[in-house]
This record gives sequence, structure tokens and C-alpha cells, in this order.
Amino acid sequence: MRVRNQYRKSTPLCCNAGSRRSGSVVVWSLVGFLLMLHLYSLVSHNDEVAGEIRLHMRHHPLVRELEQVEEENIQIPPPRGRRSPRAAKRRPKRTTTLIDEFLDENSQLRHVFFPGMKTAIDPMKDARNDTFYYYPGRIWLDTEGNPIQAHGGGILHDERSGTYYWYGEYKDGPTYHAHKKGAARVDIIGVGCYSSNDLWTWKNEGLVLPAEETNETHDLHKSNVLERPKVIYNEKTGKYVMWMHIDDTNYTKASVGIAISDYPTGPFDYLHSTRPHGFEGRDMTIFKDDDGVAYLIYSSEDNSELHIGPLTEDYLDVTPIMRRILVGQHREAPALFKYRGTYYMITSGCTGWAPNEALAHAAESIMGPWETLGNPCIGGNKMFRLTTFFAQSTYVIPLPGFPGSFIFMADRWNPADLRDSRYIWLPMIVGGPADRPLEFNFGFPLWSRVSIYWHKKWRLPSRWRALQ
Ligand code: GAL
Repeated sequence: MRVRNQYRKSTPLCCNAGSRRSGSVVVWSLVGFLLMLHLYSLVSHNDEVAGEIRLHMRHHPLVRELEQVEEENIQIPPPRGRRSPRAAKRRPKRTTTLIDEFLDENSQLRHVFFPGMKTAIDPMKDARNDTFYYYPGRIWLDTEGNPIQAHGGGILHDERSGTYYWYGEYKDGPTYHAHKKGAARVDIIGVGCYSSNDLWTWKNEGLVLPAEETNETHDLHKSNVLERPKVIYNEKTGKYVMWMHIDDTNYTKASVGIAISDYPTGPFDYLHSTRPHGFEGRDMTIFKDDDGVAYLIYSSEDNSELHIGPLTEDYLDVTPIMRRILVGQHREAPALFKYRGTYYMITSGCTGWAPNEALAHAAESIMGPWETLGNPCIGGNKMFRLTTFFAQSTYVIPLPGFPGSFIFMADRWNPADLRDSRYIWLPMIVGGPADRPLEFNFGFPLWSRVSIYWHKKWRLPSRWRALQ
């Protein structure tokens, strides 16, 4: 007690009434100054955002069309006698929701989520009126007329040839359960690769990393799991480097695999798998920054957090540097992108093949701290927004020449027949204040909002194609 009084005496701001007054003047001036500073930053931020929107409108009037909200009004049919045994077991008593209908392969609404071959997008045949239109959820055919097989995929824009390459899980095999309680699975067939100049017409480049048929101890043996392959180009070594999630049937190996090739179309040589930084690694992605440094981001610690760390210069390994991010938030399916020096990421929750709510996150430094902005989904209906349009994030494609505009790539998984999982590609815009006030900023939004707009049918502005 005494010690504290002595201390207080020696503190100039607390000596007497006069200095107390001057003390509070100083404190209030400081508060006023800080408030002004934040008001200024808010105004200039809003100006910036408004400027950004004006830029969109002035240079790219069609972006406005992409931001228009499309609503969905799907009526849940009255209960019938029979549900598929799987759906019946899942929710025996509760009233049916749209998500139950989605997960029920016998649902009368099946065609809404998984429309049949008749409505497939066929870039080789589609009449002029339909050219370049994306129909999220419809079967999408390659140039040979076969459904595209590139699930959990990502895009490489090959600067050298100006070509886009889409890599993903080739899942054109039967779906089965290896164990009673195990997740539905398809044997590894390999990594599929498709090439395109317009992001709409895709040519099948074949299996660039095929499964191992005989050697049961090989990571790529068909009985294992290969998910979410992503490819980046290393300028220093001239190699195309693929990273992927490698696992065993029960998802206990929890590792990442690395493969390299001299060409974007492979064949890729599989190097090995590893537990990154000695930790479990499941859903993952890689991100190449403007300065050429690439990063691995993966779900770890039982999917309760994400880990992020830079790769070595040759992109073939991680370095010892690693940060834990979104700790305790149970996020997976990370898709990272950058806009105006800020890093953004879309993630999903952890519910296996069943869809759940997406969240957008932002960070000033890629190594964190990362803050959660909220659900980026706009339009459809509440259920669409709470389920990421019945899909799960996998990648974000920047659209050069259209600042702040991206394509959000997601998978609408079909757990009853995984090969028939669909692609949900939607326009994504970064701009406008984020809707969730964040810590340490006096409630003023610091980040821009990330918005993914639902469309039944949409296409990129023709000006974008002209730039290609
Ligand atoms: C999801 C994951 C998918 C796949 C699936 C298996 O959580 O995002 O890539 O692993 O689980 O159930």
C-alpha cells in the first residue's frame, strides 16, 4: 500500500488538483485526436472504396451486372413415404430442410442441385446466345464432350504461353465406403489437367499425375487419397511444382505431397510426401506472392486451426517458419488471394462432403494476424448463403485488368456419386466496408468487404475476353 502511495506521489499527472485538470485535458485531447484520425481514415477509406466502385463502373460497366443479386425461391416438397436409407438415418425426426433435400439422393429436388445432362454446358455446341455463360451447378463438358473432372482444383495462368490450366481431382470412378463409418470415396485415379484461353472452353490435357496401380506402399496407390492439387511455376528453376493433400483411406496420414514437371501439361514426377513442419496437414493450398515467395496453408491439429509458412526458393519444401492462424476456428478448404497489398482468404467449416457456411478473412501480412470478416455470400436465399451455394471453396482466380474482381471457384460435392460433383464458379468483388466491426479499430471497418454474388447464369464482361 505504502509503496503504491509513494509511487503515486511521484507521478506528475496525479500530484494535485491543478495538474489533475491538465492531465485530463491531455487525455481528452489525445482521445479527440485519435477520434479525428479514425474519422479521417474512415472517410478516406470510404473515398477509396467509392473510387474503386467508380473505377469499376467507369471502365467496366458490366461488373454492375455481376453484382446484381439473384434470388432463389425453392419450395420444399411435402414429405413422401420413402427417403433414401442414408437420408432417413441422418435426420429421423426433424422437419425437412433444404440441406436435407440436398443430401438426399432420392429427393424430388435433386434436379435443382444436380441438373442432368440435357442442360450441360457444352462450349463446342452452345448456340451463340449461350456462349461464355457459366451456369453454376450444371454439368460442364470439355472440348471432347466429356464432363470436366477437376474437383478440389486450382488454376495456373501460365505467363509464358498465356494459357490457363485447371488442375483437379480426376474422380471418374465408383463411389464407395471403405469402412462403415468412413467418408464416401473414389479411388485415386490421378490429377486431371485442362487448358483454356477463355476460362470457359476447356481441352482435356489428360492425367498429368496418374495413380499407382500396383505398389501398395506408394502414396499414390489407388487405395489412398489425393485431394486439392495446386500448381505454381518457379521462375528460378523453370519447373512447374504441384502440391497436394496426400492421405490414407482413414485420413490419418494427413500429409502433403509434392510433384514437379518441366511442362504445365506434365507428366509430373512425384517426389514424396511429408507432414509439414511435423504437423498434420489436410485441406491445403499454395499461394505465390508478387515477390515470388510461395506459401503453404493447411488445416492442422485435427482441423482446428490453419498453419501458414513460406516454401523454400525451389518450392519443393517448407522452411522452418510457420504461424498458426484462425486457431480454434475449425476452418478448411482455404482459397487465398491478394488485392491492393491486403491478403484475403475464403474458408469453409469442417463438415466433410456436406456444405456449410463460408467465411472471408483478411490480413495485412500473409503470416498474420488474420481477422475474420464474415460470410461473403450474397443472393440466392438464406440457405444458399449458409451453405456457400451448396458448395465448398477451392480457389480464387484473379481477373487481371479488372481490379478487385475475381472468380470464386467451389465444389458442389455429390457424396452419393463423387464423380458427378459440380463446379460453382461465381463473380467475387472486393470493395465496400466489411460488415463486421473488428477489434482494435474503434468499430470502424478497416477491411474491404468480400462479396460473392449468386447467379444462375452469368458471364465475364466481353472486355475481359478482349484483353486475353
Ligand atoms: C472435406 C474436405 C474435402 C474432402 C472431404 C472428405 O472436409 O474439404 O477435400 O477431404 O472432407 O470427407
